[in-house]
Amino acid sequence: MYLPFKLFKIIFCTLLLIISILCYDPTERKYHSGVVIDDRLLIFGGDTNITELTFELFYLDLSKSFDNNNLTWVLIPEGSLPVYTYDSAAVLSSDNYNYTIYLIGGFMRNKNTFDYDYSNLVYAYNYPASTWSTQPGGDSVPPRQNMKGVIDNSGIIYIFGGFNATNVEESEYIGTDYNDMNILNTAKMTWSTLDISANLPNKCAGYTANILPSGIIVYTGGLEQVSDNANLTLVNMNEIKLFDTNEYEWSYINATGDEIDPRWYFSSVLTPDGNIIIFGGCTRNFTIVNPKLATLNTSKDPFEWFWFIPNSSKANTPPSIYGHTANLYYDYMMIITFGYNIDNQTYNSQVYLYDIKNNTWVTIFISIANNTIPFVQVSTYPTPTPSFSIPTSTFPIIIVMIIVIIGFIAISIVIFISCRNKERNSSS
Ligand SMILES: *[C@@H]1O[C@H](CO)[C@@H](O)[C@H](O)[C@H]1NC(C)=O
Ligand SMILES: *[C@@H]1O[C@H](CO)[C@@H](O)[C@H](O)[C@H]1NC(C)=O
Ligand SMILES: *[C@@H]1O[C@H](CO)[C@@H](O)[C@H](O)[C@H]1NC(C)=O
Ligand SMILES: *[C@@H]1O[C@H](CO)[C@@H](O)[C@H](O)[C@H]1NC(C)=O
Ligand SMILES: *[C@@H]1O[C@H](CO)[C@@H](O)[C@H](O)[C@H]1NC(C)=O
Ligand SMILES: *[C@@H]1O[C@H](CO)[C@@H](O)[C@H](O)[C@H]1NC(C)=O
Ligand SMILES: *[C@@H]1O[C@H](CO)[C@@H](O)[C@H](O)[C@H]1NC(C)=O
Ligand SMILES: *[C@@H]1O[C@H](CO)[C@@H](O)[C@H](O)[C@H]1NC(C)=O
Ligand SMILES: *[C@@H]1O[C@H](CO)[C@@H](O)[C@H](O)[C@H]1NC(C)=O
Ligand SMILES: *[C@@H]1O[C@H](CO)[C@@H](O)[C@H](O)[C@H]1NC(C)=O
Ligand SMILES: *[C@@H]1O[C@H](CO)[C@@H](O)[C@H](O)[C@H]1NC(C)=O
Ligand SMILES: *[C@@H]1O[C@H](CO)[C@@H](O)[C@H](O)[C@H]1NC(C)=O
Repeated sequence: MYLPFKLFKIIFCTLLLIISILCYDPTERKYHSGVVIDDRLLIFGGDTNITELTFELFYLDLSKSFDNNNLTWVLIPEGSLPVYTYDSAAVLSSDNYNYTIYLIGGFMRNKNTFDYDYSNLVYAYNYPASTWSTQPGGDSVPPRQNMKGVIDNSGIIYIFGGFNATNVEESEYIGTDYNDMNILNTAKMTWSTLDISANLPNKCAGYTANILPSGIIVYTGGLEQVSDNANLTLVNMNEIKLFDTNEYEWSYINATGDEIDPRWYFSSVLTPDGNIIIFGGCTRNFTIVNPKLATLNTSKDPFEWFWFIPNSSKANTPPSIYGHTANLYYDYMMIITFGYNIDNQTYNSQVYLYDIKNNTWVTIFISIANNTIPFVQVSTYPTPTPSFSIPTSTFPIIIVMIIVIIGFIAISIVIFISCRNKERNSSS
């Protein structure tokens, strides 16, 4: 092949790749995880409604303002997940800006065979290097689904209970809940199950978990098993479980205030001023719950907590959704992604934005980024994910370039063929 032709081909393919990254339109999903790092909301895994499983890692770019009907999704091509997983726990360890996301458990399928595969239960994604690794844990890592993890200041991840499905091949949700506390020490990469017998909560899954600055983990909602062999039932939202990571002790409080329907597959974020905002979720039978959004005020000591339904704007209110994610971006916006829309029984492709200061659902995300990306401070890293920050205004230029290149390629092919024909003619 002629060198110029080869060169054109490479440039052409590279440009196609850039275009596909810039105009990335992710598959809708539920039961995924979301993690905010700097000005990016990364989405991990999820259950999609297509027979071909997807493994893409991508993020919502929060460094620029956007409208929620024109979303800036960006693909991280080399960050492709090593496994198809949903209902797993994703926990961000910041470790002095050397961010790593631990993706733990869930319903897992082998990337090559598409079969259910629980041979490895912990995967770690190092964000600066954009590399995946499997983490050893051996038999000490229990196979669980529908659990949440939180991390404390010393880098210990706490995972409470969760569900163990016994009929993974069918789509029925049949199995057992657990009430053990498993911890992953990310500094030593060791797993252990805490040996606690006092005050154990009911076996539970599908809850929300948030760790307060005091080191107390707050668990709300979910599906519990009140006794052995009992069917899974929804947890009363007023029954709040607390786990003290300093003392390794369980305790409970009865929250007061507004009435909140019990639910699972819902989300929670902790605001800097001590409110836990919950959103969405569904009943045991995947029907709607009310209210859609509520806050648990945790400021009042000692533990006189109460539920409160903020007088949110009616405008732009999202539909009833479950299996979504909610992430808080600074003291500013709660961002809801994907999930399942109960109102019209479709997957949700929208992003819903809740301004936590004004208690309003908004459609425009105004970037508050400082443009000083902290992880650049660790200068020993290779360049992170391709940040093709090509402004959209250059699209026409790119398109013109592609047309020019296609032209060149066409001409090259014509020249190539005519030269070859000449060669053949001269040799025959
Ligand atoms: C989408 O957003 C980009 C900038 O992020 C803007 O240039 C473009 O005009 C927007 N498109 C529409 C249809 O609003
Ligand atoms: C960042 O973390 C990864 C995985 O834990 C480790 O392999 C790497 O050496 C760390 N990098 C630095 C600069 O500490
Ligand atoms: C449930 O637990 C059993 C025994 O630990 C394990 O073999 C199985 O893979 C688990 N199922 C799932 C879906 O994790
Ligand atoms: C669990 O639910 C099934 C069907 O929904 C029912 O037949 C069974 O009696 C229930 N078991 C208990 C202990 O409530
Ligand atoms: C919560 O209320 C129930 C009864 O409604 C009571 O049995 C329980 O002791 C209360 N728990 C706490 C921690 O006050
Ligand atoms: C929580 O409730 C207390 C007492 O009503 C109130 O003073 C405080 O502002 C509330 N906190 C938030 C974050 O709403
Ligand atoms: C769920 O649906 C079943 C039948 O489909 C019904 O018997 C049961 O009462 C429902 N449970 C709830 C909590 O709505
Ligand atoms: C809720 O807010 C609206 C306007 O934003 C106001 O008219 C209404 O009275 C408020 N309701 C309550 C209960 O505060
Ligand atoms: C379902 O509802 C959402 C928002 O409420 C809307 O964006 C979407 O187009 C609807 N889908 C169908 C199939 O009606
Ligand atoms: C899932 O995909 C099938 C086939 O494309 C479609 O018929 C069905 O409506 C989809 N379900 C949802 C919930 O979007
Ligand atoms: C939200 O509050 C900020 C101040 O905290 C204000 O500047 C902004 O205009 C408010 N936005 C809306 C939609 O009310
Ligand atoms: C911007 O920088 C200020 C001062 O360094 C910091 O307090 C603030 O959190 C930063 N905001 C964002 C969105 O990065």
